[in-house]
Amino acid sequence: MSKQQKHQKTLRVLGIETSCDETAASVVERATDGSARIRSNVVRSQIDEHKAFGGVVPEIAARAHVDLLDKLVEQAMLEAELSFDQLDGVAVTSGPGLIGGLMVGLMTAKAICFASDIPLIGINHLEGHALTPGLSDGVKPPYLLLLVSGGHTQVQIVHDVGHYERLGTTVDDALGEAFDKVAKLLGLDYPGGPQVARMALQGDDKRFSFPRPMKGRTELNFSFSGLKTAVRQQATKLAPLADQDIKDLCASFERAASDAVIDRVARCMQAYESAMAASAPRRLVVAGGVAANQRLRAALLQLANDNGFAFDVPPVDLCTDNAAMIAYAGLEHLVRGNTDTLDLSARARWPLDETAPRVSGAGIKA
Ligand code: KG4
Ligand code: ZN
Repeated sequence: MSKQQKHQKTLRVLGIETSCDETAASVVERATDGSARIRSNVVRSQIDEHKAFGGVVPEIAARAHVDLLDKLVEQAMLEAELSFDQLDGVAVTSGPGLIGGLMVGLMTAKAICFASDIPLIGINHLEGHALTPGLSDGVKPPYLLLLVSGGHTQVQIVHDVGHYERLGTTVDDALGEAFDKVAKLLGLDYPGGPQVARMALQGDDKRFSFPRPMKGRTELNFSFSGLKTAVRQQATKLAPLADQDIKDLCASFERAASDAVIDRVARCMQAYESAMAASAPRRLVVAGGVAANQRLRAALLQLANDNGFAFDVPPVDLCTDNAAMIAYAGLEHLVRGNTDTLDLSARARWPLDETAPRVSGAGIKA
């Protein structure tokens, strides 16, 4: 089938996501006008398997993906009411992430593509997050993206599909990672973000004055490890911790983290304004699991309003890891003729903006 013909019909892609601790499969459909519809979206979190270890164990994750993926693909196809031969391609996260998990997804996707003679589309997990507003709200690039999850904290200018410019990234912990580590040191369950947020609701956010890392700095990077250490030191000083101490520590940490993010994003907005043409839309999009945090959302909305930016945050189930975002990114590449061959390999590290300098300490998140 020629590229031109592909543009003229509704396209359906199966998405597969196995880069971390969620096993997910989804079918998304793209109409000729570019609008997208989720036909199925199944996610199985492995939280219970990893909880006892206080974090994701790569070996356990890979084994769980092996156990779960074929059943989830079957369920996604059933719910979409489609057979493999009605698909126009399979999009799979091929990086960045835990290599064992990525390989499980990749091998499954290759098998389906080979058996059904349809294109394989390898997708950067970060691109899945970056393009989600197109799936949830029909928002097309360009826009300013804040991506905040357990593995990534970065700001990118999304110029177009496949064209990203990194403005800033974390030099140490990702924001979600900081929430998870603070939860762990306070004896709260994994994943810690939702627990910290829940405790913070009943806490005094002014009881402790924690640092706002990088605040006021002209460079656009983030840092959270100093903040986490400050929480640890305060917790050690107070030990043994009363329930109210934990709530106050959570609230004060959440306030400091949110303030630090706002300071960084405000600077990135200035950089966006300088980089873009006057006619470019002023729009801030936030994606990734930490976008579920109500305090951060409210603060970002305020910041956007104050600076004349529109604000968009996808629904929580599309902010956290899922395969619908991978299928959608796959469709956007498929219509552009960007497909892969069956010898595609997994990439543990894969920056969205390959031209951005590597930041030491940011690992695969850079
Ligand atoms: O995007 P995601 O599902 O997975 C990746 O890391 O790629 O994000 C998970 C992260 C975890 O660190 C979790 O603690 C954090 O998002 N998170 C939150 C909240 N909900 C999830 N952090 C703060 N507040 C929340 N409400
Ligand atoms: Zn993610």
